[in-house]
Parts: sequence; structure tokens; C-alpha cells
Amino acid sequence: MTLRYLWTTTFTLLASTSSLALAADATPLAEQLDDLNRFQVIAHRGASGHAPESTLAAYELAHRWGADYLELDAQLSADGEVVLFHDGTIERTSDGEGHIHDYTLAELKVLDTGSWFHETYPDRLDEDYRGTQILTLDELFDHFGHTTRYYIETKSPDLNPGLEEALVTHLEAYDMIEQGRVLVQSFDQESLLKVRDLNPDVPLIQLLWYSPSEQDNATFTEWNDTTPGADTIRDEDFERIAEYAVGIGTNAAYQGQPVIDAAFVRQAQANGLPVHVYTINEQEDMKRLMALGVNGLFTDYPDRLLELVNE
Ligand code: G3P
Ligand code: CA
Repeated sequence: MTLRYLWTTTFTLLASTSSLALAADATPLAEQLDDLNRFQVIAHRGASGHAPESTLAAYELAHRWGADYLELDAQLSADGEVVLFHDGTIERTSDGEGHIHDYTLAELKVLDTGSWFHETYPDRLDEDYRGTQILTLDELFDHFGHTTRYYIETKSPDLNPGLEEALVTHLEAYDMIEQGRVLVQSFDQESLLKVRDLNPDVPLIQLLWYSPSEQDNATFTEWNDTTPGADTIRDEDFERIAEYAVGIGTNAAYQGQPVIDAAFVRQAQANGLPVHVYTINEQEDMKRLMALGVNGLFTDYPDRLLELVNE
């Protein structure tokens, strides 16, 4: 009996008190939403512990290993192309400098987004990633199609005006929504509501970040005041999120100090919100959070997490 089976059985029993079994003729989108009741392995920027983040190499590894979702950060180039890139500036993960939004796709395509990985992690030299190019959303969709699911963050919406419109256009063109292939996540509630207005069928995940309050270091507050602190959160705070989102993604700790507990997870779930936690790379932490009952983990090492859920 696998850990994933045990986890799924437990959560499904809890969930089944408020939902009916999925109909035999359920749509792919309904199947995807139902799958959120099972434990999800989310490859953070691909298998980014093994290959340069947000590159085809990192996504290919995660896909081959069987991750449930490929996670990515969507931003816009100066000429409006949706590209996969985490930082607002390009120095850390390329050989260029400046803001990503100041470059056209053609200018971004000449950057080397692979060599930095060898310089930062000289011990991980099993493949040569030098010369790897930045990836567009189209290229990712063309490569993997409907063979996986995508967990797409609208990154820095204030710096990427028009991102939601461009993203939804791509999701519709590739039939990703009705085929149950995509979740859209953001720390920015407005950005999620914009996506909902553009297409109300897109399943949304509200991201949360709990850190010490500036006034009182002993109290944790949420970055954008989307909820009160995790320890004082009420049903109505979760209910407000559940009006537009199908789940939440949160940090579990701040500098080693836990910010959520089993009661938080249970309360979110009782209000219809599966809980995903980012970004967990050590198996001890993975086990601890699985025991807490979370519904999925973002990780740079999907191989480590898959080893646990399949053992
Ligand atoms: O999207 C979940 C997690 O990826 C949020 O943090 O900074 O890695 O995008 P970040
Ligand atoms: Ca992200």
C-alpha cells in the first residue's frame, strides 16, 4: 500500500462528506478538479534542482518522471510574447542584464539561460545545458500538449500589464481549460479576478505568503493581506477565497519557523480549498507536510517527492 494511496484514501473520505462521486461521463475539467482531492506533485520551474529552471530540459525531466503539474512563471517580453521566467531581471539566470520587459522575444532568444546553472552548481554536470534558450508558453504547449498539466503563475502582474489577456488567449487557443490541463496561480488577487472575468472556467489558485509582521516580529501576516495571519484565520477568510479559487498555495515556514499547522490545513479543506505548499526540497520536510494532510507540494526535486508518494 503506497503513501499516495493512504493519503488519497484519507483525504477522499474527508472530501466525500461534502461531494458526490465523480460521474462516469465527467468532463476532463471536472476530472482535473476531482484530482485536486488527491496528492499532487508539482514540479517547480520544472525539475529545477537538476536542470536550469524554466527550461525545456527541466520540464522534460519532470514530465518523464511523472510529475502531475509543470509549474511556471509567466511574464511578457517587450513585444508581448508570454515567456517563462521567474525574476524581473535577467542577471541571475542568463548572460544578459536588465529587466526582462525591456527585451523583445528575439533579443531574449539570443540569451544563454543554461550556463549559469553549471557555474552555480558545479557538482551537477551530468548534462551540458550551455546555450539553452528562454522558453515561450507556445513552445512549452507545442512540446507537451495535453500530455501533462500546467500550474501557471501570473508573475508580477503590475510589471506585466496585459499578461492575463495574453495568457487566457493562449489557454483558449490550445484548449487547455476545458481539457483540464491548467491551474492559474497568483499572489495577486486582482490578477486572478481578471483571469476569471476573461474566462470563468479557468481554475484558480490563490497564493499566500506568511512572514513576520513589521510591527510585531512574533506575529505572522500575509504579504498582500489576502487573509489575516494563519493562526487567526477564520472560516469566512477561506470562504472569500473559495468564491473565486479552487485551492490555495502557501509557504509552510518562515526561516525554519512553521507558519501553518494541521488545523490550518483542515480548515482550508473544510472550506473547499485544497492546500499546496511551496517550495519543499528535502524529503524530511516532504514527509512532515504530507503527514499534515496537505494536498500537494511544489518542489525543485519531483524525483524525491515521487519516490515518497510511490513507496
Ligand atoms: O508559485 C509557487 C511558488 O513558485 C511561488 O514562489 O517565487 O518560486 O514563484 P516563486
Ligand atoms: Ca512560481
